Amino acid sequence: MRFVLTACVAMILVFTTAVQADVDKGKSTYAARGCIGCHGAGGVSTVTTYPSLKGRNGDFIRKNLTDFRSGARKNPVMNAMAAGLKDADIENLADYINSLQ
Ligand code: HEC
Repeated sequence: MRFVLTACVAMILVFTTAVQADVDKGKSTYAARGCIGCHGAGGVSTVTTYPSLKGRNGDFIRKNLTDFRSGARKNPVMNAMAAGLKDADIENLADYINSLQ
């Protein structure tokens, strides 16, 4: 029993560390790809025509970036922005923005 408990705790620790790594990568991608220029530092936009991303959950970000990339959701700016994103970038961005709750 104690072994199972220890294994569970270890798995949770490994998982938490992995998520934190994605959050950090997502944060640098957010800056490097210029998202920060429109959606603002920490996902809080100061320009009314650009939506704030803070408060959006990871599933929302993942779905919408994938849809912008495929063209299922249309917006010339975001279609261009998402075109260059790899799956891993989208995952990391989703984890980062999700962490801004
Ligand atoms: C030049 C400005 C600009 C840049 C740079 C930009 N965006 Fe956007 N983004 C927009 C606009 C404008 C919209 C609203 C599109 C619409 O109305 O459909 C939007 C919408 C979004 C949405 C959907 C939000 C919602 O509430 O529906 C997400 C998610 C998003 N952007 C993520 C990103 C990410 C991640 C990056 C960086 C890779 C990025 N954006 C870069 C202008 C920008």
